[in-house]
Amino acid sequence: MIARPRLTVLGTGYLGTTHAACLAQLGFEVLGVDTDQEKVARLSQGELPVFEPRLGELVRAGLASGRLAFTASYPDAAAFGDVHFICVGTPQRHDGDGADLSQVHACVAALAPLLTRPCLVAGKSTVPAGTGAAIAAEIARRAPAGESAELCWNPEFLREGHAVDDTLTPDRIVAGVSSPRAEAVLREVYASQLAAGVPFFVTDLATAELTKTAANAFLATKISFINAMAEMCDRAGADVRVLAGVLGADPRIGPAFLNAGLGFGGGCLPKDIRALAARARELGADGAVRLLHEVDAINLRRRATVAELTCELIGGSPDGEQICVLGAAFKAGSDDVRDSPALDVAQILHGQGAGVTVYDPVAMPNARRACPQLRYATSAREAAAGAQVVLVLTEWPEFGLLDPAGLAEVAGPRRAVIDARHTLDRRRWQEAGWHYRALGVPWAPENTNVGEGISGW
Ligand code: UDX
Repeated sequence: MIARPRLTVLGTGYLGTTHAACLAQLGFEVLGVDTDQEKVARLSQGELPVFEPRLGELVRAGLASGRLAFTASYPDAAAFGDVHFICVGTPQRHDGDGADLSQVHACVAALAPLLTRPCLVAGKSTVPAGTGAAIAAEIARRAPAGESAELCWNPEFLREGHAVDDTLTPDRIVAGVSSPRAEAVLREVYASQLAAGVPFFVTDLATAELTKTAANAFLATKISFINAMAEMCDRAGADVRVLAGVLGADPRIGPAFLNAGLGFGGGCLPKDIRALAARARELGADGAVRLLHEVDAINLRRRATVAELTCELIGGSPDGEQICVLGAAFKAGSDDVRDSPALDVAQILHGQGAGVTVYDPVAMPNARRACPQLRYATSAREAAAGAQVVLVLTEWPEFGLLDPAGLAEVAGPRRAVIDARHTLDRRRWQEAGWHYRALGVPWAPENTNVGEGISGW
């Protein structure tokens, strides 16, 4: 039995950097490994590749303690580690909906021939069910250590913006194992979380792989469900915010992930539901395929709906009109613009000829890189200058604190605002002369209170 295993973390993106820094914080010796030399050099200086609260401090503390280091050398990693965590990315394939597993396969191909002594390889990357079995066979075939180099799957459920807390105090730990030894090693790694009472689920490999994609698919389904109800509300003259409150009060449903609006984006939910649907199709699970396709379609329709509403407020084509987009990150608290609904809407309107100016509190550098064709402003006020319509597309709390009267002074004559994340105080905006619209909320003439403040007795 390994008493205090030494850990490697292969892939130092979001997941890997967080996992490495948190385990070093818990007292383990950790070596982070990445094939990108520049990333390794920056991390070794304590510089983060991503914006994530508390993570920078943790990385720097780990480096200072001597328990955390980074390298680009797989031989060094193989010599160092008793447990090797695979944390490389699994983006959507360019040629379809399935997961691109090339980074996982490259990682295993580099590592397996170097495994000369007993160790555990723990997959954390999000992969289609069945991937682990194939990797286990590859390790068995290529590792000089033979059966004493073993694979398990240990998925990760962390959220961007909460990555450190989600790792140090997760809701649950899933251990997809093929032997009691693998379970014992994972219990050792997660001893402090287990001592704190975190539920520990021991499963087979395929179930462990599915827990991650199924969890993300369920969250996506919940969001698309409430957005489908928002479509109903728009047609029935009902208020989706009140509806969500009533639904969420049922403990069997719960209030989380019932915020209707522009829908989900980011580096996980969209690609994970598509990968799950692609795998379900391969396995002949047609019900899951149809369900997940509709979840995706409802979600993407939100973006088109906001673009259409913008045109309606302008009174026709947005060609030549000025539009202000507030928000570029896929959600508040993040600088990530991967599959960002906000940037998608901005691009749709830009594609229709509008002059689109974007402002985001933290995601500007990433947004500029992803969409260089858009204009960028250094403040919300600057972005709103001359705009016929202001679109609030990311739920940053600071947008709720904007001064609508001040913005009205600089905006174009239509003074229309679309609150696509229910972030604004409708009354304040209407009182400042704005034509206010939101999704799934009854549209009412200015200066009335219809649909406001209905929160029960
Ligand atoms: C998600 C999962 O939550 C996490 O468990 C998994 O490990 C990775 O994927 P993340 O991508 O960080 O995490 O974002 P999350 O907080 O889940 O939000 C996803 C998207 O849904 C965002 O675009 C957000 O704006 C949107 N959302 C969320 C809604 O539109 N409505 C809601 O009620 C909640």
